[in-house]
Amino acid sequence: MCGIVGYIGVKPIKEILIEGLRELEYRGYDSAGIAVLQNGNFSLFKAVGKLVNLEEKAKNFESDGFSVGIGHTRWATHGKPTELNAHPHVGHNSYVVHNGIIENYQELKGMLTEEGVRFLSQTDTEVIVHLFEYRLRTEPSALEAFTKTLDQLEGAYATLLVNASLNDTIFFAKQGSPMIIGRNSEGEIFFASSDAALIGKCQEVLYLEDGHYGCATGSEIKLFNAHHHEVPLHFTPLNENKLSAQKEGYRFFMEKEIYEQSQVLIDTLMGRLRDESIYFEELDAALFDGIREIKLCACGTSYHAAMVAGYLLERHAKIRTSIEIASEFRYREPFLTPDPLFIVISQSGETADTLESLKMAKAFGLKTMVICNVDNSSMVRLADASLLTRAGIEKGVASTKAFATQVSVLWMLSLFLAGERKTLDTAEIKRQIQLLRLLPTTTKVDNDIHEQLRRLSKRYLHGHGFFFIGRDVFYPLALEGALKLKEITYLHAEGYPSGEMKHGPIALADPELFTIALLPQHKLYDKTKSNIEELSARDSTICSISPLEFDKADDHIRTQHADDYMLEFFEMMVVLQLLSMEIAVRLGNDVDMPRNLAKSVTVE
Ligand code: G6P
Repeated sequence: MCGIVGYIGVKPIKEILIEGLRELEYRGYDSAGIAVLQNGNFSLFKAVGKLVNLEEKAKNFESDGFSVGIGHTRWATHGKPTELNAHPHVGHNSYVVHNGIIENYQELKGMLTEEGVRFLSQTDTEVIVHLFEYRLRTEPSALEAFTKTLDQLEGAYATLLVNASLNDTIFFAKQGSPMIIGRNSEGEIFFASSDAALIGKCQEVLYLEDGHYGCATGSEIKLFNAHHHEVPLHFTPLNENKLSAQKEGYRFFMEKEIYEQSQVLIDTLMGRLRDESIYFEELDAALFDGIREIKLCACGTSYHAAMVAGYLLERHAKIRTSIEIASEFRYREPFLTPDPLFIVISQSGETADTLESLKMAKAFGLKTMVICNVDNSSMVRLADASLLTRAGIEKGVASTKAFATQVSVLWMLSLFLAGERKTLDTAEIKRQIQLLRLLPTTTKVDNDIHEQLRRLSKRYLHGHGFFFIGRDVFYPLALEGALKLKEITYLHAEGYPSGEMKHGPIALADPELFTIALLPQHKLYDKTKSNIEELSARDSTICSISPLEFDKADDHIRTQHADDYMLEFFEMMVVLQLLSMEIAVRLGNDVDMPRNLAKSVTVE
């Protein structure tokens, strides 16, 4: 969601800040801004909409030599996406950018207003800069004023602050929202809310911990912990393997990421498949001692991966499994016993509701694990154990390769546990491992199918809605197909278990109701077929996806004959992703950054 960058150095700062923000664009935003401090003078630029608007506003600005600056992409939470509400926010002579939510901002705003402070925006963020300047009146130094400011903030934040009287300094703090400091051999200092913005700019990074804060100049970084003790700087080399994701000839990041699935799955499986067992280097088998149940918890696409896992874990490992939507779990006063393993699934590792659920589970004393794509993310650092999905940076807001890798890790986990618990015999585990080895081939995009979907998409631009239907693991896949369609085409779509259509939804059936039917050969084929026939008989327009011909369909996408339903699952997943993308393209939508959505939702 929001993105932060900061810079201290002699290079052209406007370009550096905007380039950094561009690397964070994929997280979703609706306005952006930068503030540059040079020789005691501030230059501030803000714009609603995409970064090109900000570039246009700042086009006549050039820095000359040393300067410090901060930048931000904002995804509106408190207050509309207007220029006034865009960051950086201004005091008398200080500027601030912030990710997260200041929960007690109303109270602080009330107190400051009584002191005569005038607020310009509707944001929670603005209290930080005014509180800092208020403290500055009485505190002996700016650092102390900043420290006292942080002491009064409640909620989650990552923040950068600059003050005109300190020409060379950026104040920084992290509590619940990520913040990284980078440095290089040229003496430049960078700040960013994600390392995507630092790649290629610096060699070393320091991931701040919750409660960490401090100040940086061109020559020195002072870092303090939550107890106000100065702590040593532990920089680590920046992992340059996460090469700045570029589109590499594809029209959209989403398209590139769909095509990349085959490759990233090789990475996901690497070192984890033995002949007759699954091996997770990261897992200590003791983690599962005393575990009698698994609870999976996630949001969005990751929640759909959790639902797939629900089928696989019970089927393979014979372990009771329940699945929770994180935003529900947090507030439904769940009854917890001490014996489940609590697994959160998250591409980013930062989603607020999932992170808070993880904290709740930990506070209750449960053993915890995260399945995540981002090493060093908040969830990875918090959970007792983690399995990384190794999908590489995912930039398309509509998640694709992250989902593919999550499901494959969860499938492996189900076999790992089946082996530990002896619930599947060795021959069956071996057979499924062979299937897993086929995933890179199964998920390779078939050019003919892509071309067919491109042509077909023109028939699905209207209508009063889509139903994606499937049974068993194809039900969560149907949910995921519907979510993809909604996210990037803005058309109404629902995922439904095929067998449930007759209990209400079938009333909607007419030619303008499009049914995308997942009809695998190896899972409940006849049952699903009858459900589709019921819809066809009521004149719904049917697009079936199956390796077997289906004469009741208006359109048919023929997938490969595979040996197992899980391979069919992965091939159909690719078809659904491409179908949504091609419909969105025809509708002229922004495929990578759909309206109203954010890649990483760090507010609840
Ligand atoms: C946002 C994204 C979704 C994603 C969800 C969960 O809503 O737009 O694509 O599935 O967050 O994100 P996570 O990073 O926790 O998997």
